[in-house]
Amino acid sequence: MSSTWSTENQQRAEEVLGKYPEKRSAVMPLLYIAALEHGYVSNDAMREVAELTGLTSAQVQSVASFYTMYYREPVGKYVVSVCTSISCYLRGADDVLAAIEEEAGVLDGETTPDGLISVEHVECSGACGGAPAVSVNWELIEGLEPDKARDLIKWLREAKPEVVFGDEMQLLFGGRPSFDWGPKEIEGAIAPLPAFSPYGTAKGEKR
Ligand code: FES
Repeated sequence: MSSTWSTENQQRAEEVLGKYPEKRSAVMPLLYIAALEHGYVSNDAMREVAELTGLTSAQVQSVASFYTMYYREPVGKYVVSVCTSISCYLRGADDVLAAIEEEAGVLDGETTPDGLISVEHVECSGACGGAPAVSVNWELIEGLEPDKARDLIKWLREAKPEVVFGDEMQLLFGGRPSFDWGPKEIEGAIAPLPAFSPYGTAKGEKR
């Protein structure tokens, strides 16, 4: 099967494969590259990852369907994920989700007709100390109140940033974060994918 991926992504895939003694171990990073290429992990993308790793399509599909961060349907340019697990629930996550749904005009699990924003609820985002936590393309914002959540959606609509940075969104819309001693963020997410520079899913920005 000849590759349907861009030359750039084929090169990335080769680099990733070169790092693993067993090709099959590269399945997860290759799925991120596939999602970058296609916008989501399509059946064709999974077949291609199977070919590259020597796994069967069923094995690749079992990995892609186990991890919810691999979208198997098209999603918006920005996926807004609201944590509704216990710490966030106790700190008002349901109200934050309702505000986001209302402002975006779509319900949990849906995408706006213009393909810009998808809304979803997720399990613990690992930021319980800064609950309620919301992320945009897996870039985290902590301590978000419903009014600020509406502002976030308006900002995404109006500014349409090519790269989303958690630090920037935290300053604009967040509340009290879990901690403030982390290193400054130098890369943000360019798609509904976690920002990993080796996979081409991240980009820095002069600010
Ligand atoms: S419960 Fe929401 S981040 Fe952990």
